[in-house]
Amino acid sequence: MARILLTGGAGYVGSVCCTQLLAREHSVEVVDDLSTGFADAVPPGAVLHQVRIDDQEALSRVLAAKRFDAVFHFAAKASVSKSVLNPGPFFDVNIAGGILLLETLRRHGIRNFVFSSSAAVYGTPRVVPVPEDHPTEPVNPYGESKLIFEQILRTYAAAYGWSVITFRYFNACGAGDGWGERHIPETHVIPLLLQAASGRRGFFEVFGTDYSTPDGTCLRDYVHVLDIAAAHLLAMRKIGQPGFRAYNIGTGNSRSVKEIHKAAESISGKKIAIRSAPRRAGDPPVLCASPQKLLHEFGWTPEHSSLENILVGAWNWEQHQCNEMSAEDMRSSAIS
Ligand code: UFG
Repeated sequence: MARILLTGGAGYVGSVCCTQLLAREHSVEVVDDLSTGFADAVPPGAVLHQVRIDDQEALSRVLAAKRFDAVFHFAAKASVSKSVLNPGPFFDVNIAGGILLLETLRRHGIRNFVFSSSAAVYGTPRVVPVPEDHPTEPVNPYGESKLIFEQILRTYAAAYGWSVITFRYFNACGAGDGWGERHIPETHVIPLLLQAASGRRGFFEVFGTDYSTPDGTCLRDYVHVLDIAAAHLLAMRKIGQPGFRAYNIGTGNSRSVKEIHKAAESISGKKIAIRSAPRRAGDPPVLCASPQKLLHEFGWTPEHSSLENILVGAWNWEQHQCNEMSAEDMRSSAIS
């Protein structure tokens, strides 16, 4: 059993990983400032400290009270589209805040670190599926912030003997019983399509229909968040081994926005109105992972990531949220 300090445990991926760690008897304490996450997403078995990652004094108190074996760092500003419009906060939180976090950890002798990175570090792939040693040339500030922090971690591993595992997530998605993706405002394709299916939105905009892809819309590698959590659990075997290790988390298959739209209609049984819109700045045309490294080193397989399973869970979650909402909430959440 390990004692884990987990930042961003009130967010989507962080809360699911927290649940899975607790289910395997690890003890988990969460650090989250609740700026974008939700306190009720933190699983009951975890202690929540409402603390910013850059608040060195408050974080020191948490670290002084208990000896942690490793830190899992999920807290971040995470949106490609928002980072293009306003990059400053992405560099502030993901890099500057991250460095203050690392320095606090260093003062408390923590040397094992697991980082939520992103496929956005690759930019527009030169080859697909993308292996981990593919050139890293981000095409948006979000990807830049993740890459710069990876580079800092690589240097910490070399200079201070840290054990660092960095996971490059492709498109995290999916939901389970009573939990799922919640962003305000929502910018991700699957929840947006399903909000249009449930009537919370009038239509869905397809950003770019003139890409050089088979149907003209962007291709992405959609991976269930439970498979992302499973990769974290498997990789715990390497925690403690000094050095920097990077792993893609994706399925090796990619789907277009139009394919997701059709599948969302089929799973929900609803017609989803779409409108063509201009390309969104910062979007690479194709992202598709080579998951071979994770497969070979840990025997990981994306067992929850069929498109059908992803959409069935996400549609149940959308309906659950609609049922929980008052009529007024429904009106205020209907943005388009
Ligand atoms: N899209 C639309 N209309 C929308 C929203 C999205 O057409 O209203 C399209 C996007 O243009 C893109 C695709 O759907 O082609 C997926 O977009 P998302 O916003 O759902 O996800 P991103 O690919 O932009 O980003 C996500 C994560 C990042 C991660 C990236 C890696 O948010 O953290 O996947 O693939 F880096």
